[in-house]
Amino acid sequence: MSGPGMTPEAARAADRVEASAAARIAPSAEFLDRVARVRVELVRTVEEAARARGSPLVRALVAGSAARGTFLSDRLDIDLFLLFPPDLPRERLREEGLALGHAVLTEPRVRYAEHPYLRGRYELFEVDAVPGYAVDDPSRPLSPVDRTPFHQAYLAERETPELVTEVRLTKQFLRRLGIYGSEAKTEGLSGYLVELLVLRFGSLRTLLLAARHWRIPVRLAEAGREPPRLPEEVALILADPVDPNRNVASALSRRNLATLVLAAGAYLDAPSEAWFEPRPVRPFSRADAEALVRERDSHVTVVALPRPDLVDDTLFPQVRKAERAIAQELGRSGFELLGSSAATDPAHVYLLFEVAHRNRAAVRRQDGPPAGIDRVGQFLDKWSAKDAPVLQGPYVREDGSLGVETRVAERHVEGVLRAVFPRLSLGKDLTPADPTATDIRSLRETPEVPAIADALRVLLGKRLPWLDRA
Ligand code: CTP
Ligand code: MG
Repeated sequence: MSGPGMTPEAARAADRVEASAAARIAPSAEFLDRVARVRVELVRTVEEAARARGSPLVRALVAGSAARGTFLSDRLDIDLFLLFPPDLPRERLREEGLALGHAVLTEPRVRYAEHPYLRGRYELFEVDAVPGYAVDDPSRPLSPVDRTPFHQAYLAERETPELVTEVRLTKQFLRRLGIYGSEAKTEGLSGYLVELLVLRFGSLRTLLLAARHWRIPVRLAEAGREPPRLPEEVALILADPVDPNRNVASALSRRNLATLVLAAGAYLDAPSEAWFEPRPVRPFSRADAEALVRERDSHVTVVALPRPDLVDDTLFPQVRKAERAIAQELGRSGFELLGSSAATDPAHVYLLFEVAHRNRAAVRRQDGPPAGIDRVGQFLDKWSAKDAPVLQGPYVREDGSLGVETRVAERHVEGVLRAVFPRLSLGKDLTPADPTATDIRSLRETPEVPAIADALRVLLGKRLPWLDRA
C-alpha cells in the first residue's frame, strides 16, 4: 500500500516489513480459539456464581483487546467486567465484585486502581475482574470503568480483520519505542487510543504518514467539539466517541508523542523489521555509568526515599512532581542542571540529578532595591554593618540597583539539597516523616542496585532509539 510521502522503493520495503511483522506477531488460530472459549467460560462461570450467591449482577462481559483479538500475545490480559445496578452502594459493588472474582479466578490478588479489582488466573491466562455499573449513558459514568462496555460495542461494530491486524502492528511499533501503554509510569498511548487511531487513519502506514507532520499539541477532535478544560501540557486531543467530553489521549506525554512523530518519519524513510522487534537491552554497568560521568566531567547525586505503599499509577505522578521540584530547586540554588531521572523498586524511590559541577560557586550575588526607593535604607543598614557577612559591596550595579556579594555556607550539591529538603513540596506521600534524615549521596556512595542502574541508563543514555540500529 504505497502512498504520498514515500518513495516507491520505501513503500515496497514497508509493505514487505509490515506483512512479515504482522505474520510474526499474529496469534495462532489455536490460541485465538482458546481465548474465545475462555471468554465464554468466564462469563458463564461468573454468571452462575452470581446466581448461586444471589448477587445483583446485571451482566458480565469480556472487553478490552482480548474481546477483539487486538492483543499482543505476550502481554495478553483478559479484562472481565462485572456490571451491577447503578443504585448499588459502592461498598456493596466492591464486595460483590471481589466475591464473584474469587469464585472464578485462582491465585487472586486485590489490586487498586481508582477502585478495587481482582487480578488472578484462569487456566494459563491472567484475568482482571473489574466491577462497574451498568449505566445507560457512557457520558455519565458512575465509576471510571463504566464506559468500557460501550468502547467494546463501538469497536466491535467497526473493526474488520484487516484493521485488527493493523492494530496489533501499531501496538508492536509503539512498544518497540517504549511508548505503548497509558499507565502513569509510561505516559504512552493506551490500547483503546491505538484502536481509535487505526480506525480513523485506516492502517499503521497511513497513521504514520499523517503523524510525521504533526505539530504538538495535535487536535484530532471535531472542530468545536473538543473536550473541555485541557491541561496546558496536553499532547494530543481525541474525543472519546462514546463520551465526547473525555480526551482519550489525556495520559499521553508530549515527549512520547514527539517520539512517535519523529519515529514516523524515520520509519517511512527507511522501513526495516527492526522497528517491530523486541527492544534489545544493552548491558549498562555501574562502571560504564561512572566512566561516562568522568568523561562528562559532571557529577551525579542520588536522592533515595522510602517507597510509599501505593500502586504505580498513584505513585508515578508524585515521583515526577518530586523530580521536577528538586530539579527547580537545584537551578535556584546556583547549580547547572544537566538532567534528571527516576526509578523505583519495591522499597525505594530513587531520584537522580546530573549537575555540571559538584560545587556551586562560593560567591552568591544578591539583588538589592533600585536607588531612590525607601527600602534602600533598610538594605544598606543591613549590609553595611561592621559584622555583615559581606564579601563585596554593597555597590551599585550597571542598572542602578544595589547589590551585595556573600559567601555561601554550603557548596556541595548533597549538602545544599539536604538543607533545602524540608522546604520542598514533593508528592504528598513522598514527603518523608523526617526530611532532615533524607538519604542524599553522590553516585559513588550509592549501592549498585538495579533501579539505580535503570535510572542511570535514562540519565546518561539519551539518544533517539532507532539511530544506532544496523
Ligand atoms: N480503558 C480506557 N482508557 C484507558 C485504559 C483503559 O478507556 N486509559 C478501557 C478501554 O475500554 C480498554 C479497556 O479499558 O479497551 C481495557 O483496558 P486495557 O487492558 O488497558 O486496554 P486494552 O484495550 O485491553 O489493550 P491491551 O492490549 O493493552 O490490554
Ligand atoms: Mg487489556
